Amino acid sequence: MAPSTVDGPSNGSAKKEEEGTAPSLFEIDDSDLSRLLEKPRPVNIERKRSFDERSFSEMSINISPPRNNFYRTSDNSSRVFENLEGVYSPGRWTGTPRSGYFEPHPIVGDAWEALRRSLVNFRGQPVGTIAALDNSSEELNYDQVFVRDFVPSALAFLMNGEPEIVKNFLLKTVFLQSREKKVDKFKLGEGVMPASFKVLHDPVRNTETILADYGESAIGRVAPVDSGFWWIILLRAYTKSTGDTTLAEMPECQRGIRLIMTLCLSEGFDTFPTLLCADGCCMIDRRMGVYGYPIEIQALFFMALRCALLLLKRDNCESDECIDRIVKRLHALSYHMRSYFWLDIKQLNDIYRYKTEEYSHTAVNKFNVIPDSLPEWVFDFMPTRGGYFIGNVSPAKMDFRWFCLGNCVAILSSLATPEQSCAIMDLIESRWQELVGEMPLKICYPAMESHEWRIVTGCDPKNTSWSYHNGGSWPVLIWLLTAACIKAGRPQIAKRAIELAESRLLMDQWPEYYDGKLGRFIGKQARKNQTWSIAGYLVAKMMLEDPSHLGMISLEEDRQMKPQMRRSASWAF
Ligand code: GLC
Repeated sequence: MAPSTVDGPSNGSAKKEEEGTAPSLFEIDDSDLSRLLEKPRPVNIERKRSFDERSFSEMSINISPPRNNFYRTSDNSSRVFENLEGVYSPGRWTGTPRSGYFEPHPIVGDAWEALRRSLVNFRGQPVGTIAALDNSSEELNYDQVFVRDFVPSALAFLMNGEPEIVKNFLLKTVFLQSREKKVDKFKLGEGVMPASFKVLHDPVRNTETILADYGESAIGRVAPVDSGFWWIILLRAYTKSTGDTTLAEMPECQRGIRLIMTLCLSEGFDTFPTLLCADGCCMIDRRMGVYGYPIEIQALFFMALRCALLLLKRDNCESDECIDRIVKRLHALSYHMRSYFWLDIKQLNDIYRYKTEEYSHTAVNKFNVIPDSLPEWVFDFMPTRGGYFIGNVSPAKMDFRWFCLGNCVAILSSLATPEQSCAIMDLIESRWQELVGEMPLKICYPAMESHEWRIVTGCDPKNTSWSYHNGGSWPVLIWLLTAACIKAGRPQIAKRAIELAESRLLMDQWPEYYDGKLGRFIGKQARKNQTWSIAGYLVAKMMLEDPSHLGMISLEEDRQMKPQMRRSASWAF
């Protein structure tokens, strides 16, 4: 198909050219974006904090015991800021070490410089960050701005008081969403967000073109199901961090949210509230046996639903209907996930003793899981104290692997109950060698080997055992771990992991991933200067120093998951 492009003069004033069909929103796209870029609306960057957040940041200074039960551990002791040395550090990071009581780690400055080098401009304005700045290996699509990769960069900029790039990115991608997308002769759903985009410069015509990929160019033609969810989550993070509600309230953004919701809330043959996906639909964007109902997508889906609920305005019947469907889905989804994806020693023992072939509503073993399908490793892996959301649940199939991203997002979105959040933390602590080792963090555990690797990955040479997606260690995940740890009241776990990461990341030139059971080796095909490894580290550091940043990426538990969940009028959600 013809690539999906947005053409435009690089100075933003000459005639605009477009290829193929020209959806009306594209008209709004260029003019509106230029208008916004030329005359930025006043952004109130005074942070609006909820009571919980206020007390949170106060606690970080006073190190006083937590006042909220939510931050208690399972043994009911309050560990919220135990051993937390970081102190509130207002102000922007400009690259020079700040004076005072907090001395940043020496690699923080290098990280900021590397992050700024990765900026991608469109008509003179930053709109994203490149996936990796590594000239030593083949670019493939690492020269693009990936939606999922940009999230930690965006958070770093928001935390540093630089929201404009995030706003530009959100606008650019929402306009790309409304482009007509095709794979061969097949037209994709309206709401699909791109996996990535790239800015092409034409020095002769003095134009810049945005070339987006919705999966139609991606290796394996994988669907970026997570992109739309990250977009909504980031829009809420921007709103929460800046207090600027005007962006989310723009008709284009409201429509963008509704289109994503329409895609994932459409009725079909489903018997479960979880979202059915093909393999490679998320961060793990190659065949890895994550098709079906992968935890990463379910957790992001849940979080995006909750964020959409906070962002949608009840000012037309389309939105009203969308909100009602979201509320219903949230109830069913949280029930399903908390009941069927959760695994701890008791649940494992129950499955081990399951009877099979149970028919009708009285069935205990609802999905007809055959106990013999339980992998041997899970019996050793499961600690007496602790638990996690498993990788996948579908008929007669439970994928018992641990996936880091899904579990962290489950904590951040409060899909996990406070008890489950504590249990996930307990698991990480007691399986430190396996899940953190020498470089945080394992993307999944354990790796598939020999026959299983051949069958499940299709003999993928990039996903050999303990490499890349198949049990490799990804530094980017440290920001998610840190956020989840702070939320669960266990920041000392994150602190330990960050110290491990910072002992090597700069020296190794910010690799994309590490290989080996303990993550001791720089990944076989890992790119250097991988932007989300850099940004992930910075976000983790900034959150640990100032835990009030957590608010932009975390949602408090909805008290009773009541159907009457409403958008807060004050936006102090
Ligand atoms: C790899 C990762 C994917 C990431 C992309 C760009 O394909 O699997 O998650 O978005 O690289 O960094």
